[in-house]
Amino acid sequence: MGVGFSDNIVDEIKSRCNIVDVIGRHVPLKKTGSNYKGVCPFHNEKTPSFVVSDTKQIFTCFGCGATGDVLEFVQRYNNLDFPEAVDKLAGEYGIEVKSTNFQGERERTVLYEINREAAAYFYRAFTKIPNPAYEYMKKRGILPDTLRKFGIGYADGEWDSLYEYFMKKGIDPQTLLELGLISYSNGKYYDKYRDRVIFPIINTRGKIIGFGGRILGDGNPKYLNSPESSVFLKKNNLYGLNLTRQDINKENQVILVEGYMDVISLYQHGVRNVSASLGTALTENQAAMMKRYTENVIISYDSDTAGQAAALRGLDILHKSGCKVKVLHINDGKDPDDFIKKNGKDEFLKLIQNAMTFADYKIHLLKQRLDLTTTEGSVEFLQETAKILRELSPVEADIYIKKIAHETKISEGAIRLEINGNNNTENTRNSNVPPHREAGQRQTYEGKRAGTASQLEKHFIKLMLFKSNYILKMKPYEWVFRSPSAYKIYELILSVYKDDEEIDLNKVEDSLEAEDNILFQDIIDNVKLSDDDEEYFHDCIKGIEEARLNKREKEIIRDLAVLNDDEDQDKIEALTIEFKELMELKEAIKKSRR
Ligand code: CTP
Ligand code: MN
Repeated sequence: MGVGFSDNIVDEIKSRCNIVDVIGRHVPLKKTGSNYKGVCPFHNEKTPSFVVSDTKQIFTCFGCGATGDVLEFVQRYNNLDFPEAVDKLAGEYGIEVKSTNFQGERERTVLYEINREAAAYFYRAFTKIPNPAYEYMKKRGILPDTLRKFGIGYADGEWDSLYEYFMKKGIDPQTLLELGLISYSNGKYYDKYRDRVIFPIINTRGKIIGFGGRILGDGNPKYLNSPESSVFLKKNNLYGLNLTRQDINKENQVILVEGYMDVISLYQHGVRNVSASLGTALTENQAAMMKRYTENVIISYDSDTAGQAAALRGLDILHKSGCKVKVLHINDGKDPDDFIKKNGKDEFLKLIQNAMTFADYKIHLLKQRLDLTTTEGSVEFLQETAKILRELSPVEADIYIKKIAHETKISEGAIRLEINGNNNTENTRNSNVPPHREAGQRQTYEGKRAGTASQLEKHFIKLMLFKSNYILKMKPYEWVFRSPSAYKIYELILSVYKDDEEIDLNKVEDSLEAEDNILFQDIIDNVKLSDDDEEYFHDCIKGIEEARLNKREKEIIRDLAVLNDDEDQDKIEALTIEFKELMELKEAIKKSRR
């Protein structure tokens, strides 16, 4: 926990606040054996599957899986964060809470207090109508009720009015500097916020931790935000949550927006389950925070590219945190504020209805990035899509497969094969094993041979050199000779081979160039043939066959991907038949191994 409580206090709470007692005040519990049973408060159920253990001091719901200790229960039941839950239980059971870092906590209390003073100062200025900030917010359509609710303030145009205000109260300028309320230059202190609308940032414990100040009209910087301080850790906070978390919990959904104005505007229009990441990249901590209230997150960032990029990053972070994320696309206006002002709540709710799921959005971006009219584009699209769909349940995946097939002209079969067929997504084109070809078709390898000979190549050469009956058996697999030296030796063996005669080693050796001779000697000296060569040979061949079949399988999948369901019927059929045969062959090889 960031704001530290000593382990002692947590231990004391756990030992003094009996979980049966605490939960029993909210959930009727019945004793059954050594445990207590009740109806789970965290999901809808009729028959009780919520069990509280007196001995273990934990609760577990066998219906929804909720589980934890007394503090976890109080957090979840009351929508509190950890420190809040500690405070609540400590208060109820008369346990004195001392912070681990007493000094730090006292300092923070001072900082919170100063922030509160500043907010009150800005607020008073804002309520002295008329003033430019009020006029500005009125022009943007924000009503007095909403302004009050969010504690909106006005920083006037003076250079040092806030500074002077705090000096009269005897506040140390150093503290004001730390909070980013004033700045210092040329031997003088200045107010940091001048001529701006002030948005106080309030945490879920109701403490004012920082401010955002918007310029009145155009200018730079548009927003001025409090610096990080011991009371303002941006990565741990979300704007508006102090007001909206109950709504988020009730709706079981949060609309995550970028800016202050988006929160305020949506809130005013009755979309109250909203919060903002304040233009910064969403952090894991923020995701975890939201997850306390709901798993369902709808990202509604600006429609510009920066907003979309931010949405994408947020999407991954939320997805990783286990949230169910959707992305809402604003089709009229720059941001949610714009949209709801123009089109109203109902239209915005429609956008929520139509928000793209995690998979939808990722696929949408792929389509934008890749050119599906090219083979390469289609292949990459298929591979990337398969990765996304593999994460879904079969039923969900099925819906997407149909949709994608319909939209992209990639056949359903191809998509299914790519998802189920091979999880190996590396690019296997131009890899070792040659493509399938008709019997008798000669394949050349100009420029493709490389590297040193493998053990397999060496072994085959040794076999041919000493047991000439293998020479003809090797012919269909000659492409395994990938190293240039091995291939030369292989060719030489063929050229000196006469029916039923063993190979004359000297003849081969004499015809080899020096560099190939190194390999030749190595094979003669070091490769051992054993008695079960026959078996070894067949095992190797099976391995090679399998590699070829796997390779061909991928090719078929890729070929299918770029064929058109309507126009290329024949080709699709032929490939599908070949694919089936291929699967049978693979199965046969597997069986022969058992
Ligand atoms: N932001 C910021 N500093 C800036 C610009 C933006 O801190 N110079 C943050 C603010 O939290 C802002 C959010 O990023 O609310 C989104 O930025 P932007 O879309 O530019 O602002 P809006 O919220 O649309 O503000 P407005 O409607 O007032 O123009
Ligand atoms: Mn805006």
